[in-house]
Amino acid sequence: MARSLPKSELHLHVEGTLEPEMMLSFSRRNGVKTPYATPEEARAAYNFTDLQSFLDIYYGAMKTLIEERDFYDLTMAYVKRAKSEGVVHAEIFFDPQAHTSRGVPFDAVVKGIHRALEDARGNLGFSSSLIMCFLRDMSSESAMETLEQALKHKAWIKSVGMDSKELGNPPGKFSAVYARAKAEGFMAVAHAGEEAPPEYVWEALDSLKISRIDHGYHMFEDPDLVRRVVSERIPVTFCPLASIGVEYFRSVAEMPVKKALDLGMVACINSDDPAYFKGYIAKNLDAVIEAFSLGEREILRLLRNSFEASFLEEDTKAAQIGKLTALAAEMGTD
Ligand code: HPA
Ligand code: ZN
Repeated sequence: MARSLPKSELHLHVEGTLEPEMMLSFSRRNGVKTPYATPEEARAAYNFTDLQSFLDIYYGAMKTLIEERDFYDLTMAYVKRAKSEGVVHAEIFFDPQAHTSRGVPFDAVVKGIHRALEDARGNLGFSSSLIMCFLRDMSSESAMETLEQALKHKAWIKSVGMDSKELGNPPGKFSAVYARAKAEGFMAVAHAGEEAPPEYVWEALDSLKISRIDHGYHMFEDPDLVRRVVSERIPVTFCPLASIGVEYFRSVAEMPVKKALDLGMVACINSDDPAYFKGYIAKNLDAVIEAFSLGEREILRLLRNSFEASFLEEDTKAAQIGKLTALAAEMGTD
């Protein structure tokens, strides 16, 4: 059922959708070597024990992305897959510094992704926006330079975000960059409390003024923070298969999904880096449905949350939520 219902995806790194087959074809097309001879060899290497072990492989594989058309093809492949799983709207992360630091022009990255999203809007009726992430293990000066490069594409980028190695790179490091981004009209989100303690989440809320928390698992160690996130209806994007993949939890059942739903938190389910964590959004939803024996009411709540948590216009949000509410009424669940 979850696969066929409309949903929005809010935590998806476009570089994290680089399937091994595509990586090897870009590698041939661009003459860039990879450590893997076959897709099977790549998949066999995708055994992670923490965030850094994933990031090492993730940044290595994306070295095959060179030309604007690579970014176009990558994005279009994701959109087609997401659409087949009921995604009608996606807010997509990209990591410009992971490309510009290797000499790929910012414009090639953003134009390739944007062009694919515009074609998807026109040809597939797929709505989307872009979130430009700063790599938090790079300097704040590099983040500011990246923001400056983005200004001429402001119309294409809805929000800034922050990812990569969290521990040791607290949000406050980027407060000036976020302040500038907000002054320029961008929305703001951040990966926070993914591997770092609740203080990082407080700091992301108070000093970066984010309006959505990515992952946020460690906030559950701080009841005051949980109360704030619930009462201010600050959305939280959970990524079940990824968080198992980097061993934050031993199983999906250990994740705070049911707890979040019971508290009335605006939590939603996402796929993060599906090419590396063995599943797109439907598989992530199936995993939580099974782990918590969720009923229709809770599944619909997660899907409605995915729209409430989005940056869609209020009337579009209301229309999507209305559709799900009507479905729930038909099923007699809500
Ligand atoms: N966390 C941190 N960095 C990342 C992630 C993530 O979920 N995905 C891609 N880069
Ligand atoms: Zn992520």
